[in-house]
Amino acid sequence: MSDEKLECWNILYRSVYSNDETDVINSVWQILSVSARNNLRDKITGLLVYDRGRFFQVLEGSFENVNSCYKRIGTDSRHDRLEVLIDQPVAIRTFGRWAMGFVDAFELEDYLSLQSGLHSDHPSEVYDTMVLIGREHGLIQRATS
Ligand SMILES: Cc1cc2nc3c(=O)[nH]c(=O)nc-3n(C[C@H](O)[C@H](O)[C@H](O)COP(=O)(O)O)c2cc1C
Repeated sequence: MSDEKLECWNILYRSVYSNDETDVINSVWQILSVSARNNLRDKITGLLVYDRGRFFQVLEGSFENVNSCYKRIGTDSRHDRLEVLIDQPVAIRTFGRWAMGFVDAFELEDYLSLQSGLHSDHPSEVYDTMVLIGREHGLIQRATS
């Protein structure tokens, strides 16, 4: 694989929140503040979506940085049953404006239509739904308006 391709790597995984749901706001707040610091430093961008006890996260950046970030995330006791859905090079960043955006899917107006995509067995559908959610919240700059 060429070095160029290793320049932008993309991981999408899902996991299950392992603490009490009533405490999720605190956990997410802590996660986002650490992510803002680390991801800016490591030039990682992405989106974290929470949906009633489950996390979905896209991480994009250099192969090395994305993988070492994922390794740290993988040992975090706030979630378990991590499942990698996509692990591949990408031509460009999709979530490039955010060190780590966050959306609570359940609060979205079109939650019901997004829900099946988010929980799909097809990784590309899960990814496409993350992109839609990002668009909904203005995280992704569109090439055309
Ligand atoms: C669902 C979830 C998403 C996370 N996302 C990130 C992330 O994008 N970047 C990050 O640095 N840490 C993230 N973390 C936190 C890491 O697991 C870990 O606590 C942190 O990277 C440690 O950083 P430190 O070594 O600077 O203290 C996440 C944790 C969870 C549970």
